[in-house]
Amino acid sequence: MGISNGAERLRAAYAAQPFLLAPMAGVTDAAYRIMCRRRGAEMAYSEMVSVAGLAYASNKTWRLVLPEDEEPQICVQLFGSKPEQFASAVDAVQERVGDKLSLIDINMACPARKVITKGEGSALMETPDLAAQIVRAAVERAQVPVTVKMRIAFRTGERTAPALARMLEDAGADAVAVHGRTAKQLYTGTADWSIIDEVADAVTIPVVGSGDVFSAEDAVRMLTTTKAEAVFVARGTYGNPWVFDDARALASAATPVPVRSAHERLEALREHLELVHRYLPLMARARTFATWYLKGMPHAAAWRGQVVRCTSFEDFMSLVDEIEADVAACEDILAQGGTLPPLPAV
Ligand SMILES: Cc1cc2nc3c(=O)[nH]c(=O)nc-3n(C[C@H](O)[C@H](O)[C@H](O)COP(=O)(O)O)c2cc1C
Repeated sequence: MGISNGAERLRAAYAAQPFLLAPMAGVTDAAYRIMCRRRGAEMAYSEMVSVAGLAYASNKTWRLVLPEDEEPQICVQLFGSKPEQFASAVDAVQERVGDKLSLIDINMACPARKVITKGEGSALMETPDLAAQIVRAAVERAQVPVTVKMRIAFRTGERTAPALARMLEDAGADAVAVHGRTAKQLYTGTADWSIIDEVADAVTIPVVGSGDVFSAEDAVRMLTTTKAEAVFVARGTYGNPWVFDDARALASAATPVPVRSAHERLEALREHLELVHRYLPLMARARTFATWYLKGMPHAAAWRGQVVRCTSFEDFMSLVDEIEADVAACEDILAQGGTLPPLPAV
């Protein structure tokens, strides 16, 4: 079946807020998405979900896909290599997510070994006919736009994205995102944004750019210097969920990006911990993101060592109290012209 105006629907959504929370496995859970949504992310992606897994999915797998009450929408990213499994997964996701589903994205970008050895993720860039069959199978069932996320190519030295994007547009894709690295590069080197224009020149559907967007300034630079109609913010959200509002204000009114105080960042960390506690509640995940909020604070290295010892919500919250007291003590010392002690002052 498919929808006829998918590309135009996406264009309108991108024009309203071009900065999107990118899919990140192990990161973009409901708590993470809500942190970003409360600060301007209007389109947020699930972690990638296996179409094979969805056929006999547990509630644990569905947790990756189903939005919480506070989330007005979700973009669900699927990975796999069998067209018929994509077709059934699209049906199942539409049925379970309902009206909150904004789009289905197909992962042709993941470079992880356990994914590519099964011909999934970025390996699909090597099998364009199969990639097109997968898009057709998804589009046939979808009542929402179907999009694809890819890289420059699977192999370094090749640039297969523009021709593949063209094929996938013909197969019914409503937008395509391109990460300016090859699969073989993993996350190393510098992202090559020129691929975004090469893809945009090859298709008529909107193109989303990705790669090395580490700040609101980077996000706006990608939007204004390339033909991307939207920009994925991935690692640039680490400890900085404000990046969406900041980028929009910078792009629309040249509002300079505010510097956030340690107090503000610790308040955001408390909010994030509360969301994880309420929705997941996988507190081990907090060990990763908690350290992101501490970047640049006094004694951050010592606190990072403490973060990895926390196991419960209460452990994390009392550690944040300790960090806040230390930050206040350090600010007092500095205000009086003193030098910071080598270890936390509390
Ligand atoms: C921890 C992590 C997990 C990721 N998981 C996914 C994923 O599930 N699906 C996907 O398409 N891309 C995934 N990506 C790639 C990002 O969406 C993005 O394209 C990439 O990080 C490049 O952007 P950046 O350099 O601005 O971070 C992941 C990246 C990171 C760092």
